[in-house]
Amino acid sequence: MSLEPRSYAPAETVPFDAADLPARPAHRRTLLVRPEFFDVRYRINPHMGGRVDRTRATAQWHALREIYGGHGEVCVLDPAALAPAVGDLARDGGDREYTDESEAAVDGSDQATNEAASSVPSASSVSASPASPAAFPDLVFCANHGVGAAEGESVVLASMATAERAGEPAYLAAWCHEQGYDVRRLPDGIAFEGTGDAIWHPGKRLLWGGYGLRTDRRAYDALAAELDVPILELELSNPYYYHLDVCFAPLDAETVLIQPDAFTETSQTRIASVFDRVLRAPAHESIEGLACNCHSIDGETVVLGAGTPETTAAVADAGFEVREVATDEFLKAGGSVRCLTLTLP
Ligand code: ARG
Repeated sequence: MSLEPRSYAPAETVPFDAADLPARPAHRRTLLVRPEFFDVRYRINPHMGGRVDRTRATAQWHALREIYGGHGEVCVLDPAALAPAVGDLARDGGDREYTDESEAAVDGSDQATNEAASSVPSASSVSASPASPAAFPDLVFCANHGVGAAEGESVVLASMATAERAGEPAYLAAWCHEQGYDVRRLPDGIAFEGTGDAIWHPGKRLLWGGYGLRTDRRAYDALAAELDVPILELELSNPYYYHLDVCFAPLDAETVLIQPDAFTETSQTRIASVFDRVLRAPAHESIEGLACNCHSIDGETVVLGAGTPETTAAVADAGFEVREVATDEFLKAGGSVRCLTLTLP
């Protein structure tokens, strides 16, 4: 059995059986980012649009936080409180140029279309000053800011594909410094959107890596070496499923929930060769309710956005305990349960 820490392209034969891979300890903490600056002010995925009701969004976020509170340690990053530390780090790092804050919101840009057209996403460095959290309406989606190591207090930081979000990972970096996590980075210029695209196989030292729309495939060669694990790549090309976590949700080591339209035949074959049980979410629930952006906290309890009844029933029938939470305010930005949470060692 090969345990080579490298990234396997979708068509490559995988020289190991996932069940035989070494165990990975369960995550220790779940991070959430306070939603005080959450809004929809640009359009970088085709789901984005509508007016956010901030009061409703805050209530939905608190309900989500409450659910996680019953399942291990929950940490909350407060962007306003952390902003000075973010500014200090940016000054120390010093190698990036930021535009004026007012240029950050690129209204009406339809980058979802642009992204689909270009095959290699590149990391973006044009952004508002990272020390102004109000300039980052998507900051609440912390899953995209990094991925926790298999074990040990270490995080690999994201490098966002869009200018609008480029300043966000600085918040996770500052929080990690405060908390004593070791912050690692991939080589410059390679887009990598954290746990949005790099998803751990439950209980195993194995990562699944979505690429093509936000994350650059080359990120995974570097990430495999950095985390010392094999990575199974899955290509994404449908703009509605712009991150792996909106079309692929491992529920336990043997079960995965997917949206088949997101994947090529080759990728679907790969998924079915590793998971014994593949549940399929209906397309309308995957698009309108981001059904696959649910999260199996511990292989038993699955947190799902409300308003996806067929998916919820399928997950419950498969034996999981389902916790529903309304996330419709966050759906206006193209996000739901999974991307509002970052699990960490
Ligand atoms: N508006 C955000 C974006 O397009 C939403 C991110 C949601 N995150 C996720 N992992 N699906 O980047």
